[in-house]
Amino acid sequence: MMNANLKIVGTFLLCAMFSALVHAENAMISIETDNVSMIMGTDNKGELLFRHFGGRIGDISQFAGYKTYRRSDYGTDPLAYPAAGGRFFNEPALLAEYGNGHLNTELKYVSHKSIQVDGNVTRTEILLQDRVTSLRVLLVYTAYAKEDVIVCHTEITNGGKKPVLLKNYYSSSLPVMAGKYHLMHFYGSWAREMQVDTEPLSHGIKTIESKKGVRTTHTENPSFMLGLNADGFDENHGEVIAGALAWSGNFKISFQMDETDRVNILAGINPYASEYRLDKGKTFVTPEMIYTYSFAGTGQASRNLHDWARNYGCYDSSVMCPTLLNSWEGAYFDFNTKTLTDMIDDVRDMGLEMFVLDDGWFGNAYPRNDAKHGLGDWETNVAKLPEGIGYLVDYAHERGVKFGIWIEPEMVNPESELARKHPEWIVKSEGREVPTIRTQWLLDLSNPDVQDFVFGVFDRTMQLAPGIDYIKWDANRHVESFGSEYLERQNHFFVEYVQGFRNVLRRLREKYPEVIVQACASGGGRVEYGALKYFNEVWTSDNTEALSRVFIQYGTNMIYPACVTGSHVSAVPNHQTGNVTPLKFRFDVASAGRLGMELQPKDMTDDEKEFAKMAIASYKEYRDLVFGGDLYRLMSPYESGDHYALMYVSKDKKRAVVFAYCIKFQGRTLIPVIRLHGLDTCLKYSIRELNVKKSRFWGSGKVFGGDYLTSHGINPQLTKIYDSSVFYLEAEN
Ligand code: GLA
Repeated sequence: MMNANLKIVGTFLLCAMFSALVHAENAMISIETDNVSMIMGTDNKGELLFRHFGGRIGDISQFAGYKTYRRSDYGTDPLAYPAAGGRFFNEPALLAEYGNGHLNTELKYVSHKSIQVDGNVTRTEILLQDRVTSLRVLLVYTAYAKEDVIVCHTEITNGGKKPVLLKNYYSSSLPVMAGKYHLMHFYGSWAREMQVDTEPLSHGIKTIESKKGVRTTHTENPSFMLGLNADGFDENHGEVIAGALAWSGNFKISFQMDETDRVNILAGINPYASEYRLDKGKTFVTPEMIYTYSFAGTGQASRNLHDWARNYGCYDSSVMCPTLLNSWEGAYFDFNTKTLTDMIDDVRDMGLEMFVLDDGWFGNAYPRNDAKHGLGDWETNVAKLPEGIGYLVDYAHERGVKFGIWIEPEMVNPESELARKHPEWIVKSEGREVPTIRTQWLLDLSNPDVQDFVFGVFDRTMQLAPGIDYIKWDANRHVESFGSEYLERQNHFFVEYVQGFRNVLRRLREKYPEVIVQACASGGGRVEYGALKYFNEVWTSDNTEALSRVFIQYGTNMIYPACVTGSHVSAVPNHQTGNVTPLKFRFDVASAGRLGMELQPKDMTDDEKEFAKMAIASYKEYRDLVFGGDLYRLMSPYESGDHYALMYVSKDKKRAVVFAYCIKFQGRTLIPVIRLHGLDTCLKYSIRELNVKKSRFWGSGKVFGGDYLTSHGINPQLTKIYDSSVFYLEAEN
């Protein structure tokens, strides 16, 4: 959507206006945002080198005659896009094998141009070419001024006669020079996504990657923060580079500290088992790597990424997601029409806005009554739902409730009609056992027929009844022992799977621009900006337990805005961890994201339902802040250990919502003093604790100056584990 707009304006401007086309040696290129400059220049050999990435420098002519005082025969120059060949010996962004078997590439600057796409966006293209062959590399940098974000990708074109094998073909290479480097990255597993890991970088290479093909973001997320000149991270101070790759497949991001103490960041498609043959005349377009640079700590880095995501990176983030009840943890596979209509009644009674029917509604020859059967057979199960899906959709709509439904179109159970009908569509390696995960196989999306099928699953599901409002798209396994009957070159599988996935999503968005679509992959297995171009939201984790969610959401929202992170209140003891937490704590944690519920409302007491009603109603009052406000993390669950606090502030600083939690048994002596951020110190704010009869803060209901709240802070009595508060702040006129 965003790309289409960008393309139209870009094409128009391309034709309409002149863009600087420079062929000279000693070219100087500046890519700028409001506060950041990325400056490159050519040396006298015609190589393109990074000169600066950091604070904005207005007059780039000052770089003329720049000397590094390094021996040019050392091979460690900060090339803009280092290729294996010539003197270069660090990890290369490009490694190509030519028709004659040679592996050397020496990229030289040819030309560049800058296109002002609109008042905020500038696109700079730099053309490089190998000194000997006709391999061309176009480096594309799109700068978003207000957001201080620069998005890079690379287009590699084989201008020669013979095919070229691309072995490394990264999206971007970014050399960074600082006194010290501290890396933050996000590791985890199923039900434990986006745990924050921080470590100092030292010489050698540190890599974060995925080789799972599908569901690639459980174990490492393709994103990071890099703190410069400090031993750790601070929310509000210090220089931080943050990066995120938009690619729903295997990725690799490496940080190489070389002998000059420079760190080079390489980011892109993982070269693992992915040698790509580029035929004559063909161009390979790499995924986009998104960078921001903050001068005010990790907090500003997150806010820059969030702004960019909302304005450009995510699919239609202006749509306010309805609060919802999802049937999964409340009913699993065990339901009939009455179970669901009762749930829809409860949705309406509690003030929720949508009902989502999860897994279990399809399959007849192999009824989907457990995870072993029916995946692939997308007809409504007539034994469970004889009245059909249309009846449920109407039932919901008549009660003012929206309706959503679950699909997992890339997958198939061995026990299904589809597996019998199309064995050639299943990802497998000839002559070897086809391994299952969750008793399912993967369909080969590199095959256009499978793409049509997957498109058709979505399309037919939408047509089960007019007015389906929401689709939850799941993917519950990754790639193992891969092989494609369709592909000539198995090395292309990992890349072409993702391209096939994108093709389907592109087609779906053309046909269904309005429907809200969630990317779920056993929870947070597809939390990345490649998917978010097409999906409105992600299912942050299958772990719905509130204490675990504190850490998962804290990590996820470092990079991704709260308007995409689905977050549900579930039953206790929690189904994933067994933990028992108060309903208020569960609501207060879930309300810091896209609020939903996932339990059987029949099992709730009247008091619990009353509380839920109140919490849902108040969420509707402030959710625009969660969706579009600036996030300030006030206390880290990792650093404080006892408390966690965050707030969202409206762009005009007139409204805010503060969430604060006690997350540890700690003897009741530690009373947090939480200093607020992002407010206007000249304004006065009324502060009101929501969803309580008696506030935990003596100042609830009073008016405080922004200066008081910022410099002194609030001290709510959050002393027992799972005590929590939500405060709503409004500026006085
Ligand atoms: C995955 C999802 C869950 C649920 C189940 C249904 O685990 O992450 O939310 O949809 O599948 O089978």
